[in-house]
Amino acid sequence: MRQMVFGFPEQLLRAWTIGMQCHFNFKRKAGFDNVVIAGMGGSAIGGDVVRTVLGEETTLPVLVWRDYQLPPGVNRKTLVFVSSCSGNTEEALSAYEETKRCSGQVVVITSGGKLAAMAQGDRIPLVLVPGGMPPRASIGFMSVPMLAVLYHLGLCRSYEADVHEASRLIERRRQYWWREAKRSARFLFNRWPIIYSLSRLLDVAAYRWQCQFNENAKVLAHWGCLPEASHNEIMGFGSAATPAPVLFGLVDRSTHPRTILRWRQMLKLIRGAYTRARLVRSEGRLPLARLLGIIVVGDLISVALAEQRGVDPIAILKIEQLKHDLGRKKG
Ligand code: PA5
Repeated sequence: MRQMVFGFPEQLLRAWTIGMQCHFNFKRKAGFDNVVIAGMGGSAIGGDVVRTVLGEETTLPVLVWRDYQLPPGVNRKTLVFVSSCSGNTEEALSAYEETKRCSGQVVVITSGGKLAAMAQGDRIPLVLVPGGMPPRASIGFMSVPMLAVLYHLGLCRSYEADVHEASRLIERRRQYWWREAKRSARFLFNRWPIIYSLSRLLDVAAYRWQCQFNENAKVLAHWGCLPEASHNEIMGFGSAATPAPVLFGLVDRSTHPRTILRWRQMLKLIRGAYTRARLVRSEGRLPLARLLGIIVVGDLISVALAEQRGVDPIAILKIEQLKHDLGRKKG
């Protein structure tokens, strides 16, 4: 897993090329009113990256949808991405079937499986990405090609420069981030992490950190965002029933100065109810690099924690077992 995270700079560049090589014959050439990205887990987070980055500069509504059915209101002016790295996740397959009942334009993103076969059979535009890696290690493949497809459709500008910046940033910083990750993992041992995003750009990163702690390090984790958490979650600290967590605050240049002040004041109020608190700053210039960079920082901490705990960061036995068990049940 560590090698896969280290390979992320190359993955990003390859993902952009794959997306740019897809020239689809769309029923509608332009005039989409909104975008829906249907998928689960590591694949859905790729959609969140796209939604977040586009939200920085366009008003195009993008909804990431994690369920069997499609959201209400999908119509012929909706572009629907069905995204599943394995191509076999039942919620994604169900969402794909649902697209046949609505008149939206569908694009499938997958590395193969049933979804690729169905899209090929139905002659639905298909972005085929490389397989062989866990979905969460393929977040570049499950996000960047969507930006290229949207660019082809005239729904956003080209993100080529952004992808290159993100790739360069991660390549330059990965060794340093790995050393820091090992330090963080040491004080996370036998503690549970809570990750707060202090900027809306980084909300998806905080959620991703949580998921990576769950899947790679096999520990429970929680994410929230400030300023909101200081209006509710703050009350949960210090209860004898909850073990003292390690806190991470993810900060971006877009973070409001009063949110930093709020974080500091909050830490004063809950002193003794956490073991450590650390602010992690996003790096880079453009939003995509800032977001993907801090995602990689979290990926590396989760891998370092997995190594320290002696667990295999790749294995996700319970998730696979559940998929298998449900696959055998009808209804
Ligand atoms: O990271 C993972 O392995 C999971 O979260 C998967 O992404 C999730 O189970 C969905 O699978 P897929 O991405 O293949 O549709």
